[in-house]
Amino acid sequence: MNATERMMSPQLTTLSGVEPEPVTFTRETIYQENTPFENFLFALAHQQPERAIELLHEWIETLPSYDGPADGSDVVLPDVKAPIDIPRHWIEKPVHFIPGGFANPKAPRIIYVARNQYFFCQEQTIKEWLWKVHGSKSPKRILDMGCGTGTTTFVYGELFPTAEVIGIDLSAPLIRFCREWKNQRRASNVSFYQENAEATHWANESFDIVHFTYVLHEMPQENARKILHEMSRLLKPGGTFSAMEVMYDETPEEREARVKRSPAAEPFLEEYMQFNLPVAIGEAGFECVERHYANKFPSTDGMFLTALKP
Ligand SMILES: C[S@@+](CC[C@H](N)C(=O)[O-])C[C@H]1O[C@@H](n2cnc3c(N)ncnc32)[C@H](O)[C@@H]1O
Repeated sequence: MNATERMMSPQLTTLSGVEPEPVTFTRETIYQENTPFENFLFALAHQQPERAIELLHEWIETLPSYDGPADGSDVVLPDVKAPIDIPRHWIEKPVHFIPGGFANPKAPRIIYVARNQYFFCQEQTIKEWLWKVHGSKSPKRILDMGCGTGTTTFVYGELFPTAEVIGIDLSAPLIRFCREWKNQRRASNVSFYQENAEATHWANESFDIVHFTYVLHEMPQENARKILHEMSRLLKPGGTFSAMEVMYDETPEEREARVKRSPAAEPFLEEYMQFNLPVAIGEAGFECVERHYANKFPSTDGMFLTALKP
């Protein structure tokens, strides 16, 4: 293992040759921090993906399910008829080795623990970055697209307690998870809906900030461009686009190297590296595109992007 890999997978240093036992969770105990088994599994995904997939598929069966009506009618916006349109790639090419992808009703715990595996998904890091770029503003409505288990959405809610903050995701199980976590956190200004970020049901110019955290690298370019255009449609003039995403490196050699050292769990990363996100943001109608760096680990560094709706 080289130095870069060690930084990507710090938990590997605890490997002793004995596989830790998984913990059994319920919907009440699911908010625990990462267990040794989960840290082991994430580390293994970089080193021995086949063994990691085998363990993951066994383990996921033991996790609490966030099942509901098949059409998602419990999680759509009040005036929207279920089911919503789901992009094909999201069903046909699932990411992160999860069987059935984010639609799997047992996936929420996996996404929840993943946020602690990389520095750029940790709540404190997100909080610092969001405050750095938005702290001087007084937004009234904020939309977090592809909210996953809701970490970024909750951070916005805490930073701006008088704002209405909405998290959306294609995954009905993740929305059910977010709603339960919202009750645990008593986050009264935050709400969650199943929506497609490519074509949402809100009117033009409905939000002051529209944001996503690590979403566009997991889809074909065509879908990513639709989301950027939707963000532009939804923002008020003078509103702020903001995003945290996988770094788009300066040179083709660096981009190729990044794809090579990433685990196979990211089937769209190569395509993402051919998609110059900062340029695409400008092409979707934004101005003043700024790239802020969050360089902590050389191979897993992310970029924080902001832009303005003219
Ligand atoms: C890597 S996860 C990131 C989750 C979360 N933002 C975080 O940082 O933990 C990407 C999320 O984007 C969601 N997603 C992908 N395409 C989407 C779309 N068109 N509309 C809404 N959500 C989408 C996925 O379901 C998944 O939950």
